[in-house]
Amino acid sequence: MVGTEIDLPAHIQKVARPATGDGLKRQLPRLSELRELLQFRSPELDPVKRRLLAAQTIDELRRVGQRTTPRSVFDYVDGAADEEVTANENVEAFRKARFVPEILHSVATPDLTTELLGKRIAFPLVFAPTGFTRMMHHEGEVAVAKVAARGNLPYALSTLGTTDIEGIREAAPGGDNWFQLYLTNSESLNNELIDRALGAGCTTVVLTTDCAVGGRRLKDVHNGLSIPPSLTFRTFSNMSRFPYWWINKLTTPAIEFASVRDFPWTNAEVAALLFDPGLDYEDLAWLRAKWPHKLLVKGVLSARDAVRVMDAGADGVIVSNHGGRQLDRTPATLDVLPSVREAVGPEATVILDGGIRHGQDIIAAIASGADAAMAGRAYLYGLMAGGERGVERAVEILRTEYQRGLQLLGLDATAKITTHHVRTPPAGFESTNNPGVAASVL
Ligand SMILES: Cc1cc2nc3c(=O)[nH]c(=O)nc-3n(C[C@H](O)[C@H](O)[C@H](O)COP(=O)(O)O)c2cc1C
Repeated sequence: MVGTEIDLPAHIQKVARPATGDGLKRQLPRLSELRELLQFRSPELDPVKRRLLAAQTIDELRRVGQRTTPRSVFDYVDGAADEEVTANENVEAFRKARFVPEILHSVATPDLTTELLGKRIAFPLVFAPTGFTRMMHHEGEVAVAKVAARGNLPYALSTLGTTDIEGIREAAPGGDNWFQLYLTNSESLNNELIDRALGAGCTTVVLTTDCAVGGRRLKDVHNGLSIPPSLTFRTFSNMSRFPYWWINKLTTPAIEFASVRDFPWTNAEVAALLFDPGLDYEDLAWLRAKWPHKLLVKGVLSARDAVRVMDAGADGVIVSNHGGRQLDRTPATLDVLPSVREAVGPEATVILDGGIRHGQDIIAAIASGADAAMAGRAYLYGLMAGGERGVERAVEILRTEYQRGLQLLGLDATAKITTHHVRTPPAGFESTNNPGVAASVL
């Protein structure tokens, strides 16, 4: 009888067929329909998996990371220099970009891949170099390198990594592993680092150039997170609320600058060496002569510098303000990207970093002239939230958003993104209501 029309008793008819008459034929409730509507998920017992699956965006992953990591560590990742103007504007610049779709194109199976430095990668994303990664989660750089290798994406190990160059090769032997170099005023250290990067099969060296001296990250200063650490009582008592973080930290190898551990210097001395105020074009020429593979210069923020660096023999530039962690009040990287691309021409490799928090940010970067985007904090939030699985989740979020963005734009391949697909307001522009569009993208 379920689902069959019946004659209802009068007192039920009153309710089911109200006096006003809704004109609908009623039937007995169908339990099968109810069952379809009320399909409860079986509870996820693994708390890490539960948290990660609940995070639908990088911002939500960030909040999970914030809850699971001591505040000083979270601040170290999340914070930036001085008033954090640049760090915020990096993100804001992407929020202001507007997408212009093309209709009536078949986009059923989009090709997300792209060619970067002679290799085909899964989609235009590179893992940025970040120091102290094992402080954020004990799985550290190894977790990031493994996710990158599995996902066919390049990973740049930092000179300040807490895993050494050889450790990365061991963890991710099939990965496209890059090495980020801080050239120091110790020639023996420079030579050794480059030789080891070569020996470990690194395909690309990234020379970071925006650290003549250390940026002033006020949150770290207030938390006492310096090298060596001088924690405040408040920082320490907050840390004590994260027993798992402590247990993992105390039961895994000590946090150190792993690639330079064999040199007879303390961490503080190494950190001082790494910020070399004497770095200049002669050093770049020296590196170019010594390093036989791809060489990128990171920290470029003007067309003029980009051209000079390319003339000095670099294979490409990374438009970067170090995620706003060095010189504050530099322009947002998305804003300077079109002029850099215009200056270096179509052949040079141009990568953008700073502010990538959504897969569509990567589309905006490509449309504005980049070959790929590099993300730092986005994957570190994942790492803090759940180690290797958290990094995997970050990539999954970015990749899904990237693919959906591409399809909704009417594009079936990364290669089809052009300047016509995004409108960015002129640099320095404040109101989101202004109809102005940058001349360079029209
Ligand atoms: C915690 C942290 C550590 C970093 N360490 C390094 C580093 O050792 N070398 C380097 O070249 N850049 C370093 N960076 C900068 C990143 O490579 C990248 O430029 C920046 O994170 C991009 O901005 P985003 O975090 O908004 O993606 C670091 C960034 C963060 C957040």
